[in-house]
Amino acid sequence: MSPASVEAATETSAAERPHLHSGSGRVERLLARFHQLRNFTDALCAGLEPEDCVVQSMPDVSPTKWHLAHTTWFFETFILKKFVPGYRPEIPEYAYLFNSYYNAAGDMHRRDLRGLISRPTVREAQRYRASIDSHIDTLLSNADEKLLDEIEPILVLGRHHEQQHQELLITDIKHVFAQNPLYPVFRSGRARHSVRAEERTATPTRRGPYRFVDFEEATVAIGHDGRGFAYDNEGPRHQALIPAFSLASRPVTNGEYIAFIEDNGYRRPEFWLSLGWMTMNEQCWQAPLYWTKHDGSWWHFTLSGFRPVDGSEPVTHVSYFEADAYANWAGVRLPTEFEWERAALDVPIDGNFVEDELFHPAPTAVASTVSAEKTAQNQDLHQMFGDVWEWTRSAYSPYPGYRAAPGALGEYNGKFMCNQYVLRGGSCATSRSHIRRTYRNFFQPEKRWQFTGIRLARDPQ
Ligand SMILES: [Fe+2]
Repeated sequence: MSPASVEAATETSAAERPHLHSGSGRVERLLARFHQLRNFTDALCAGLEPEDCVVQSMPDVSPTKWHLAHTTWFFETFILKKFVPGYRPEIPEYAYLFNSYYNAAGDMHRRDLRGLISRPTVREAQRYRASIDSHIDTLLSNADEKLLDEIEPILVLGRHHEQQHQELLITDIKHVFAQNPLYPVFRSGRARHSVRAEERTATPTRRGPYRFVDFEEATVAIGHDGRGFAYDNEGPRHQALIPAFSLASRPVTNGEYIAFIEDNGYRRPEFWLSLGWMTMNEQCWQAPLYWTKHDGSWWHFTLSGFRPVDGSEPVTHVSYFEADAYANWAGVRLPTEFEWERAALDVPIDGNFVEDELFHPAPTAVASTVSAEKTAQNQDLHQMFGDVWEWTRSAYSPYPGYRAAPGALGEYNGKFMCNQYVLRGGSCATSRSHIRRTYRNFFQPEKRWQFTGIRLARDPQ
């Protein structure tokens, strides 16, 4: 799978357990959540044909079929093989085909060759899912409390792991469809878009420029507090001194990004990191991924088809390099992940997530026109969660005291802490129940196929 944040080793906290029901109630609750999760994956694939599910359009992209099988392999490998006495896989070769990068779990097939694997078929991958689900049903239904205590943390981890792959499945099929001159539609999105289009038409002047929200210097607790699930890279929680800074009230829009393009932003090296300038030229970037100039206007491919770029939507599918260059052009900078987390502290986790089924960033919120003294800071910050992952200028590295857990599940986060940048907040392809204020996603700076966007920050004026 992609390096996307994580399949992290982590634990369900003890604080969560006192709320568990005992006996069958606990099993029913665990299985209900498990099947809800698995069914949502299937629902995402509902409009896909088998031919769609086998294409790998670039090494970062995995075929839909692989996502379906790999997430299943996770439950088989880390739960069934461990907790079912004498468990024998029906097809042992799947362990090689559908292991992603867990060296401690055995050898694996090459990631960049996943699109060459025509067997098992999509139907067989779906049968594999059903078979493993049935084994999980049986195991949990017959487990005593002690065994459930052992299984539950891994089941919860597997659930979050599959949510990550649901997001990858969406961004991967977008990249696959974008290669097709017929521009297949993943979801029409008509209802939502038509309403929003009417809103835009009716209130063309309501959306003003972003403003900066000020934060004083403070020492704040960074990282997960141990209540509920978190990946291991979100800890240990520690104190961090964060100098005064200001954060933009909303993400950068397509309209604002077009101004950067039209000011020759892609041809002016003074805005770019050296590696970014080199990458941009090598890959011939002239705009965000999926953008095309058509009859003098910008259009882009979306999961609802090919359509004109809406200037009021947050810009997305930009690399770290582009985000950084835009910030330099604008005379400001990107936030650190610590500034972002501090700013998000009291912001409700709400926004445009995958459950909204828009599969695209929504137009930016109306710019706040009220003065700072009348409102809390968090009320001035819009779209912190959902819509687009926000690049930070923080390298993805371990928090003080971090140690990866032993064993295969300890491979998920720690070994990726090199040459990547942290992104915060989730996107329109993220599950609402998956994101946290402390969630650290990470990608290499040249990656553009996720729903990645830009929020600006600046030092005190
Ligand atoms: Fe994975």
